[in-house]
Amino acid sequence: MLAVQSGGLESLPEWQACFAEYAPGLEVRWWDDPELIRERVEFALVWNPKPGWLASLPRLQAIFGAGAGVDSITADPHLPRMVPLVRCVPPEGTQRMGEFICWAVLSLARQARRMTLAQTDRRWDWFEPPFTANERRVGIMGLGAMGQRAAEMLVGLGIPVMGWSRTRKSIPGVESYAGDAERDAFLARCDVLVCLLPATEETRGVLAAPLFARLPRGAGLVQVGRGQQQVLPDILAALDSGQLSGAVIDVFDAEPLPAEDPVWVHPGVIVTPHVASLPSRRERARYVAAAIEAFGRGEALPNLYDHARGY
Ligand code: NAP
Ligand code: GLV
Repeated sequence: MLAVQSGGLESLPEWQACFAEYAPGLEVRWWDDPELIRERVEFALVWNPKPGWLASLPRLQAIFGAGAGVDSITADPHLPRMVPLVRCVPPEGTQRMGEFICWAVLSLARQARRMTLAQTDRRWDWFEPPFTANERRVGIMGLGAMGQRAAEMLVGLGIPVMGWSRTRKSIPGVESYAGDAERDAFLARCDVLVCLLPATEETRGVLAAPLFARLPRGAGLVQVGRGQQQVLPDILAALDSGQLSGAVIDVFDAEPLPAEDPVWVHPGVIVTPHVASLPSRRERARYVAAAIEAFGRGEALPNLYDHARGY
């Protein structure tokens, strides 16, 4: 049996219909269904489970995150660490992220925020973009499943791309920087900085004034990692001073972003409501069903969370 906690109870019929197609033998129940027999739950598909609930399932064999980032699951102090935790990274997820990053980078290059504000005022604000997107080097912090696909798609647009990760990568057309020792050299060459890092203790608060000071003046920022990585007042101050020229921010510490937050109305920021990449339920069900089937054959589970690394 699979217990689901993702998308609200109203999403259960869709989950059940998708799993009926991809894993016909699998019973799918809502996590807090009063009739759920906890001893029968072998798999859980969750986004932000109630702390302690996963630990209360005595026959749990694998936990599937409903997203690629599983920080809202690992935040549970009672998380059963010996049960494998699978991040949700189907091809549709990386594709959607790549599309979002390309859109965000092009929106910064073509000053989409400026045009939206002018349209709202019915103002014919004719201007010439000062550069083309392929004249601006994009640096991606985090070259994992998401960052690598985004890098490939940007390269496909003819945009120069670099990446920074803990370990060095070899991706055609992408300059790889690795580790803390190479971070500042990487930042110094980023005309647009994309953050695709996971939420860990090391990445908490990294998008702040000291990092922005390392970027070329007038750099753009695309933040799609997690809200705990940014200091919003520092982003606004860097935009006001011209150190940053524009930002696209998809993730926030408090979601939904409170209506009174000044980020909403800043002329340099495009706010998006944590939509960069969420694969359809059908695609996620297909991914989970395939993983359960492979697990049943004794094969390894994909995209496992590593407790020692924290991502
Ligand atoms: P991933 O495959 O685990 O990749 C993480 C990348 O970050 C790896 O390249 C890793 O380096 C690098 N990294 C981690 N800690 C680092 C550090 N301290 N210094 C330098 N590099 C570090 O994760 P993913 O699937 O690409 O997803 C990344 C994150 O994107 C998720 O955790 C989530 O927060 C976010 N996300 C957001 C959305 C959205 O809709 N906004 C959707 C999906 C994901 P190594 O390769 O060397 O290990
Ligand atoms: C979404 O934020 C995800 O981690 O998949």
